[in-house]
Amino acid sequence: MKVLVLNGPNLDRLGTREPLIYGSTTHADLVEMCVAEGKELGFDVEVRQTAYEGEMVKWLHEAADASIPVVLNGAAWTHYSIAVRDACSQLTAPLVEVHISNIHQREEFRHHSVISAIASGVIVGLGVEGYLLALRWLSLKQK
Ligand code: DQA
Repeated sequence: MKVLVLNGPNLDRLGTREPLIYGSTTHADLVEMCVAEGKELGFDVEVRQTAYEGEMVKWLHEAADASIPVVLNGAAWTHYSIAVRDACSQLTAPLVEVHISNIHQREEFRHHSVISAIASGVIVGLGVEGYLLALRWLSLKQK
C-alpha cells in the first residue's frame, strides 16, 4: 500500500534549521528513515516537501482521489491555512498530523492547529521519530 508523507515549508531545512528545536536529522535522512520503516511495514512510502501551498493542496487531492493514507507535517500552514485544511477534509483514508517539536510548549500562535480536528490523530513533540510512529499506527490500523 502506498503512503504519502507530506512536509510543508522550511522542513527541507531540517538539520540546519534551529537544531535545538528540530534536531540534527536532515530532510534527506528523514526520507531514508520513512522509506526504510515503510518497507518493514510493507508500505510504499513517498516523502514530499514543498513551500508552495497550491502544490500541497494538489498532493492532498491526489491522496483523496486515490484513497492514499497521509502523514502530514503542515509546518507553519498548520496554524492558519484553511486551504490545506479544506484539502485534508476531502481525504478518504486516514490522516496523521505530525509535528517534530511540541507545539504546545512553544509560542502561543503554535498552540492551535486548523488540521487537528479533522485528523485521525496527532503526534507532537516526539522528534522525527513521530513520523515512524505514524507509519506504525497506519500499519496497525490496516490489520
Ligand atoms: C512544526 C511546528 C510548526 O509550528 C512550525 O511552523 C514548523 C514545524 C514541527 O514539526 O514541529 O515548521 O510543524
